[in-house]
Amino acid sequence: MIDRPLNVAVFASGRGSNFQSILAAVERGELDISVVLCLSDRESAGALVHATKQSIPTSVIHPRDYQTSDEYADALGRVLERHGVDFIVLAGYLKKIPTEIIRMFRHRIINIHPALLPAFGGVGMYGRRVHEAVVQYGVHWTGATVHVVEEEYDTGPIILQEAVPVFPEDSPEDVADRVLEVEHRLYPAALRLFAQNRIHIEGRRVRILDMQGDEPVRDDADPGRAKHD
Ligand code: GRF
Repeated sequence: MIDRPLNVAVFASGRGSNFQSILAAVERGELDISVVLCLSDRESAGALVHATKQSIPTSVIHPRDYQTSDEYADALGRVLERHGVDFIVLAGYLKKIPTEIIRMFRHRIINIHPALLPAFGGVGMYGRRVHEAVVQYGVHWTGATVHVVEEEYDTGPIILQEAVPVFPEDSPEDVADRVLEVEHRLYPAALRLFAQNRIHIEGRRVRILDMQGDEPVRDDADPGRAKHD
């Protein structure tokens, strides 16, 4: 067990609003981690701008610049090692994480997905497409899911989920906005549970421990949802 704040790398391909929500939680003193790196596959990613403003080191790595996936994985591994990264947060990162890195960081890579997994997840389900599918299907509820990253997209053990309603007149943008608001609370909360060493994973099952690290925490008023704040 590491007895200092986790050194976290955030991987982001886009605007980086989830990255910002994590930085804001750190700034408010609600999340005791050190964000040591922002990594992207796109020079134009908004997340890189937020990182630079806060003097957080950045790195851009394009998988296409490497001849083989092993070389790409090695390059990623070297950057992570150079920055002393203990934990990886995917915040709208669109590239697949190489198996080698997933093995190296077992149960130490998390992702946020803008739907209630396992619904509306998997290959090709990202960004607006998720909310379009939600509206088209006519579900009454969607939400956000924070999960551990495994080799297949959107399949790892679920850390936290929160639902939001979908109304008949909603556009995909309405749903996206409602879900994003939840994401901005849920992701820092999930990361805080890891930072406090309160996540215990057995197979697909995740137990959230209390602050002493032994009692599982359950919200009796809503057993489907662990207390996270
Ligand atoms: C979020 O909707 C997140 O759920 C998904 O990608 C989007 C990233 O948005 N994985 P942002 O770049 O954090 O604003």
